[in-house]
Amino acid sequence: MIPYGRHHIDEADIQAVVDVLRKGELTQGPTVEAFERAVADYVGAKYGVAVSSCTAGLHLAALAAGVGPGTALVTSPITFVASANAALYVGGEALFADIDPVTVNLSPESLSKLLAANRHVRAVVPVHFAGLPCDMVAIKIAADAAGAVVIEDAAHALGAVYADGRRVGCCSHSLMTVFSFHPVKAIASGEGGMIMTNDEPTYRHLLRLRSHGINKLDDALQVPEQASTDGVRDPWYYEMQELGYHYRITDIQCALGLSQFEKLDRFLARRRALAAVYDQALSGLTHVRPAQPVGGSTSGLHIYVVRINFAAAGTTRNDVMRQLRAKGIVTQVHYIPVTAHPHYRRLGFRPEDCPVALEYYEQALTLPLYYDLTDEQQQFVIASLRELVG
Ligand SMILES: Cc1ncc(COP(=O)(O)O)c(C=O)c1O
Repeated sequence: MIPYGRHHIDEADIQAVVDVLRKGELTQGPTVEAFERAVADYVGAKYGVAVSSCTAGLHLAALAAGVGPGTALVTSPITFVASANAALYVGGEALFADIDPVTVNLSPESLSKLLAANRHVRAVVPVHFAGLPCDMVAIKIAADAAGAVVIEDAAHALGAVYADGRRVGCCSHSLMTVFSFHPVKAIASGEGGMIMTNDEPTYRHLLRLRSHGINKLDDALQVPEQASTDGVRDPWYYEMQELGYHYRITDIQCALGLSQFEKLDRFLARRRALAAVYDQALSGLTHVRPAQPVGGSTSGLHIYVVRINFAAAGTTRNDVMRQLRAKGIVTQVHYIPVTAHPHYRRLGFRPEDCPVALEYYEQALTLPLYYDLTDEQQQFVIASLRELVG
């Protein structure tokens, strides 16, 4: 089977994990910090807070941004449910602005309209869909005008570069940016995520929230009078200063993450080469086109999505997916609009609320893209697609 996405593990990865196991610090040891430092330096952010998943990171980011009861978080309907669920975890409301038909990212115009009509929005969560950077300048202007914080969902975008040459994760237009290290992403740590920020108070807050809400670094004590004996600070004393979570990541995972991170540029180069071949091959097909623009800012290329006019090609998506699977090619749909899921329907949302997203959804198909996809396998995917919808 040719999957739509897959991680690549080599002997160095295995050795890195074994080394941590031999050293004995399984969690909260030096490898977590080393991973945080490596990613922060690479993307150009001051701080990284590694967490158990991107979902956990989005939850903590929503909390740190002050989303809660009576406030809302706006995101794109074309994303994984985790981007919107962050609002619900903290008792807030999720709202959806439509996407831009060309980039498949959050439309700044639609966002501005939504913000004008909803004064209680505390956070805007643009998603760099498939790794293509959003129009952060326009989104930040819209968010600022509404008094909302920007949290970038960069689950797809480690290694992506904005049009101005800076890397996604540098937080030049956001308070926080969250990455995922789930196996189908650019690099894998098993499960894992990281929140980037340049804001020290937010960093310190995230460190507390990641670990039960217990004080970290030199956080001021809230009840100092119970922290000392005969005027000397008790070394074992700690305070739970607010309700936090256990969202820590292990050193075992970070050892894998760090080892994978060393290969990131190689991983990205291969993804880009494969994407360029798809772009070129698809330009010869009548009913198929790349879902996102080629050129401009540099995508992280987490997935390669095409838009297919199935009706014009005289077929249906289900049929195409079934026939490809019969040939051993697994495709996927990214994403069912969040507003179509039963939980969100019960909250009153409908996919028709965002018509551009709905139209995109009906045409979307994700083709195989991963480091180990061979040229021959890719040619087989292209030929099979041409046969079915060319
Ligand atoms: C856009 C987006 N946000 C968040 C997540 C959640 O990531 P994780 O699996 O690390 O929690 C994903 C995962 O696929 C995603 O695609």
